[in-house]
Amino acid sequence: MATTTSDRSSSRKGRKDGSRGNRGSGQRSAFNWGSTGSWLGAAAAGAVIAVGANLARKLAMQGMSASAGDWDAVLAFEHEQTLMIFDKILETEDSQTTKRAMLIKKLTHALDKHAHEEEHVVYPALRAANEAHDADLLEGEHGYVKTFLFELNEMEKSSPDFLPKVRMFREMIERHAKMEEEEVFPRLKESLTQEQNDHITSLVNKEGFMMA
Ligand SMILES: [Fe+2]
Ligand SMILES: [Fe+2]
Repeated sequence: MATTTSDRSSSRKGRKDGSRGNRGSGQRSAFNWGSTGSWLGAAAAGAVIAVGANLARKLAMQGMSASAGDWDAVLAFEHEQTLMIFDKILETEDSQTTKRAMLIKKLTHALDKHAHEEEHVVYPALRAANEAHDADLLEGEHGYVKTFLFELNEMEKSSPDFLPKVRMFREMIERHAKMEEEEVFPRLKESLTQEQNDHITSLVNKEGFMMA
């Protein structure tokens, strides 16, 4: 044991040009500093690129919704985009399990972003306009949206039950979106001043950007 320690010690001294102050971790840390520094530099540059790419993705994603116009048009546009993802899933075969899993992820992201905008801005505005009943009903349905997503994520993607479940889910979303677009949103919009309407549009876009 003692021999091994001494061997290690002398071999370390050999590399250290006899310097007594820098031992063990000090030496490693001094040696690694240069490479860690350059690694950190590369990581920082990578992080800047990643942040830039993420920002560009967010701008592109929310930009598409925002270009639809007022908050109600933004949300209607997102309903349409979401139904298109459902249709893509419904076109898949039982053997296309990877494609199904990828599309369910895309659907989850679209629905999470959309629910966030409604639950943080539009439904509170509905409650403020004495429409709490509708807001509570719609928010309750969002809970079942998450349940459908949970079940589809858990389910074998090759299961013959997969597409019937997606079909039921799509019908529920379509009904929910129709109630928002044809009854609830127009009634809320009518009760708003132009300034309130613009404020809700800007808040929906801000929340959407955060979640994009
Ligand atoms: Fe909704
Ligand atoms: Fe909606």
